[in-house]
Amino acid sequence: MIKVIPAILSNNTEDFFRKIKLIRPYVKLVQLDVADGHFVANKSFGGPREVSQIKDLFWEIHLMVFHPEDQINSWLKISNVKRIIFHWEAIPDRSGELKQNFIKNILNRIYQEGKEGGIAINPETPVSVLSPFFSVQIASFLIMTVNPGFSGQKFLNSSLAKIKNLRNSWHNGEIEVDGGINPLTGHQAVKAGADVLVAGSYIFSHSKDIQRALERLKTLDEV
Ligand code: DX5
Repeated sequence: MIKVIPAILSNNTEDFFRKIKLIRPYVKLVQLDVADGHFVANKSFGGPREVSQIKDLFWEIHLMVFHPEDQINSWLKISNVKRIIFHWEAIPDRSGELKQNFIKNILNRIYQEGKEGGIAINPETPVSVLSPFFSVQIASFLIMTVNPGFSGQKFLNSSLAKIKNLRNSWHNGEIEVDGGINPLTGHQAVKAGADVLVAGSYIFSHSKDIQRALERLKTLDEV
């Protein structure tokens, strides 16, 4: 069975709570997309206050924000936040070993609070930037298979080589893929080595039967 995490990317209260209501009978873990309107063009709805109110779900927080180090604390305080994923590209004012150590410190802060950490990379960022973190404590690398910011975009086939490359080089955690995931692209991603499928519009917009949509993605390793 493949791990499938529904992605909640909303820009208003109504859409946020509509998606929660739709998904909560079928899953225990959801991903909240947090977009700051600077790192990505979109600005999302849903923050620590809303997440802390929804206690029957566990949350993976995908920070599509510049300077995630400034936002981590507000998420670390929330008991049902399990994993926090931030972008390698979101720390623009450091490079080389300085940047690597800065990122390792953010990961340490997350683990010190008993949560899991992950790093996301955008389509144009090579997998090689992740190698300094292959032997640190990290739960997942998230390979964006669209340019981040909006739901409903087309899966970028160029991501498949990155997933393969990462799978061949690293086995200490999960490879997540996120963006344009449906049964076809999800199957390709799983074959390339992905462990976790993050899906938004396939679940919330393209499927009448949410439970069936989740089942289809979960069983892609059986086709
Ligand atoms: C894109 C987000 C994705 C997106 C997934 O910026 O990070 O999680 O919401 O939505 P779909 O599955 O519709 O591409």
